[in-house]
Amino acid sequence: MSAAHPAAPHEPVLVGETRARLEALFPKYPTRQACLLPALWLVQQARGWISEPAMAEVAEVLGLTPAYVKGVVTFYTMYHTHPVGRHFIQVCTTSPCGLCGAEDVMRALLRETGCGELGATSPDGRFTVVEVECLGACGFATPVLVDDDFHDSVSPEGVAGLLARYP
Ligand code: FES
Repeated sequence: MSAAHPAAPHEPVLVGETRARLEALFPKYPTRQACLLPALWLVQQARGWISEPAMAEVAEVLGLTPAYVKGVVTFYTMYHTHPVGRHFIQVCTTSPCGLCGAEDVMRALLRETGCGELGATSPDGRFTVVEVECLGACGFATPVLVDDDFHDSVSPEGVAGLLARYP
């Protein structure tokens, strides 16, 4: 997954294999418009995030307006509207996990990744760390999502070992 610089000229994303994967979805949905969410996932998988020109591409292919597509992208927090690191880390800091030390895990993540602050990307482009609301695993503090992988009972001491699994 590569993250283009926000100021870089837009290179079409719905081409080649990504376009083929999108078109393979069409017969599975009643309309092209109904493919919007998976189409956005394909863009994010290809580029790491969804830029406004990419939203316009999706709109064009699916027969939607760019404003409609942007409304959907910005509604769901799992779509990235700016470049992120190769690995996207989400840590729950909601009260039950907070009481069990989630803030310490979050601080260890920021320190060990080099991100420094929430939402920032590490200088090597490897990680972005964000805090999220309840991940539905309140009995397993501290839960951490790295990309699509769920990790429970993460401690500050376990953070370095966890990160080592994500080059
Ligand atoms: S409060 Fe952290 S998973 Fe529910």
